[in-house]
Amino acid sequence: MPAPTILVVDDEQLIRWSLKDRLSEQGYRVIEADSVASAIARSEEGVDLVLLDYKLPDGDGLQVLKILKERDPDVLVILLTAFSSIETAVEAMKQGAYHFANKPFNVDEIALLVDKALETTRLRREVKTLRATQAQPYSFDRMVGGSPALVSIKTLMRKVASSPASTVLLTGESGTGKDLAAKIIHYNSDRAPKPFMNITCSALPETLLESELFGHERGAFTGADRQKRGLLETADGGTVFLDEIGEMVPGLQAKLLRFLEEKTVKRVGGAVDIHVDVRVIAATNRKLEEEVRAGRFREDLFYRLNVLPIVLLPLRERPDDIPMLVSFYVDAYNTEFKRRVREVAPDAMKRLRAHGWPGNIRELRNTVERAMLLGEGDVLHVSDFTIGGVSATKLDDRLELPASGIDLEELERSLVVQALTRTQWNQTRAAGLLGLNRDQIRYRIEKFHLEKTNSAP
Ligand SMILES: Nc1ncnc2c1ncn2[C@@H]1O[C@H](COP(=O)(O)OP(=O)(O)OP(=O)(O)O)[C@@H](O)[C@H]1O
Ligand SMILES: [Mg+2]
Repeated sequence: MPAPTILVVDDEQLIRWSLKDRLSEQGYRVIEADSVASAIARSEEGVDLVLLDYKLPDGDGLQVLKILKERDPDVLVILLTAFSSIETAVEAMKQGAYHFANKPFNVDEIALLVDKALETTRLRREVKTLRATQAQPYSFDRMVGGSPALVSIKTLMRKVASSPASTVLLTGESGTGKDLAAKIIHYNSDRAPKPFMNITCSALPETLLESELFGHERGAFTGADRQKRGLLETADGGTVFLDEIGEMVPGLQAKLLRFLEEKTVKRVGGAVDIHVDVRVIAATNRKLEEEVRAGRFREDLFYRLNVLPIVLLPLRERPDDIPMLVSFYVDAYNTEFKRRVREVAPDAMKRLRAHGWPGNIRELRNTVERAMLLGEGDVLHVSDFTIGGVSATKLDDRLELPASGIDLEELERSLVVQALTRTQWNQTRAAGLLGLNRDQIRYRIEKFHLEKTNSAP
């Protein structure tokens, strides 16, 4: 990064010289001007900060300020003046000056002010680019899948994103995409330019979580040596994602409810109510109704959160999403690992579709990642996959024929029954578990006279 450029505008050479001397020492590039006209001309070179004298031979500093700000609203201007008047100061601030200093000034103080101003803009720029790059990955397309269940979830998410709804509840097993959904909703709402803040309710003890959420005043408790704004306050205008809301202790549940109803926060140890506008997206992989029934979760909070519920179904209930997700991850890992996998062999895909995916999409992603790391060639075969911790082909290592022999027919029957039971009699998936097609499993169901009711092995 090139050193920031500072333009010093003053008609007194001695002042220009002392500022230039001091600021060059700090590593800045310093250029000079002694009038309105030359200040405008020199600023064409592109400057980050301007130290601007108010009284100039051909006009005043406010004129320069106005032109500079029109040209580049991000430029920082510090006005220096010997004729300090409140009106000038107010006018300068109104026109976007960063600061105001009286002459005669202390060069060290000006140098400090300059450092601080440039640091602030550097951070502001960083946040801006970060937001621009972060927002992009969270388009609706990032949520992959074509099953009716997923399509309707996405439709609902679109509606929620553009609605003024202030609370959303995401439920679903681990790895079903709650985090992803929360970010997509935020980055596709008009809250996108404002912060997305994320906190896991189970990660902190109660008092810490409270001060994280609501902030605290200085001296509110031992160790609170400074006033601190809470997450809700910091996210003003944006979204707060409360993950694992089911783990929140009852005391805090009450405070959260109060916040959702009144839209104000009171810092711990504070007396004032601060108005805050945030959308709260809460997520849990617990069944909140059950938590309510068991007395662990406040019923009133549940109803408040449940105004807009979005349920992310487990992957095993939407196997039609599996092929699309697999190819999404194959593409992603092709790029990341510099590989050129074209496809997943049909029998491998069949196995992937049949698996129960207790870890849902996270597990699927890891499974594909592993296969991409271990497999070779441009097709992924059954033998490249380890599904659910079991290599997809290597049966012979695990089943050894007992010395006394076995009843093959009985073993076959037992395996078919187990597959059907495990998949709740979804014949396609049961067939996948056994490496069969649907006709082949149907044939065996008839052969062994299996019925859904007497399916116990
Ligand atoms: N429909 C989808 N399309 C593509 N990727 C997805 C989809 N759903 C989830 N993922 C990915 O799966 C992984 C797990 O998702 P995420 O972290 O959102 O799950 P979660 O529901 O928050 O899980 P947990 O309850 O464990 O926190 C992430 O890498 C996420 O990007
Ligand atoms: Mg999560």
